[in-house]
Amino acid sequence: MSSPDNPIILRADGLAKSFRSGTRDIHVLRGVSLSLEKGKTISIRGESGSGKSTLLNLLAGIESPDEGEVFWNDTPLATLPEVRRPKVRAAYLGFVFQAFYLIPELNTLENVTIAARIAGLSLREGRDRARQLLDELGLGERLGSRPDQLSGGERQRTAIARALVNQPEVILADEPTGNLDERTAGRVMDQLLEAVERHKAAMVLVTHHPGFSSRTGKQFHLEEGRLV
Ligand SMILES: Nc1ncnc2c1ncn2[C@@H]1O[C@H](COP(=O)(O)OP(=O)(O)O)[C@@H](O)[C@H]1O
Ligand SMILES: [Mg+2]
Repeated sequence: MSSPDNPIILRADGLAKSFRSGTRDIHVLRGVSLSLEKGKTISIRGESGSGKSTLLNLLAGIESPDEGEVFWNDTPLATLPEVRRPKVRAAYLGFVFQAFYLIPELNTLENVTIAARIAGLSLREGRDRARQLLDELGLGERLGSRPDQLSGGERQRTAIARALVNQPEVILADEPTGNLDERTAGRVMDQLLEAVERHKAAMVLVTHHPGFSSRTGKQFHLEEGRLV
């Protein structure tokens, strides 16, 4: 239950989502509910195609559910006008994706700073925070390197810094180690979990890896459109 000490900052209530494929509907989510308390972590496992990314898109307000409701803190997303969403999202959420999605023309420092600028921080404050985060993640010597000059692990650590730079309440991580070899994946996961804890963020972690999912506070499985 929510209390002043551990408020629920992200909640999903009865989410359903279908996609049209030719003449039939695929019911990807069939009633998914979850709640995430401030500073806590949960993981979601499930087969490829089970709807994990779809669920994250609904939690992020990038797509709308057919049924059910998502709440950011206590605000029902459906009541947050489309035009205000990107700004609120940039302050409230941070994303880490399997494919990193860094901007190839920008160096490490710029890739992280730009996220802070988009959320409305001044250049100076954005750059200071970016530097500090990159330092914490062991990239202090790589600030001037572009993504194509970085290893996979370094790229994902840059993306983790970018996700945290706005001091979001929630990190959504979609198979963040899916493109990394086993050893690098382990190290990046350690750093992601440590950074999320250090910055008192909460996290929804989607991962195939049983060893990683067991490291979050709660574990769920997405099966036939429901969380178990
Ligand atoms: N925009 C879309 N249009 C049509 N089908 C989609 C769309 N997004 C996802 N799907 C389908 O929904 C199912 C779940 O996809 P996804 O959420 O990406 O699964 P996962 O992330 O667990 O691999 C898949 O069958 C996929 O093809
Ligand atoms: Mg996916």
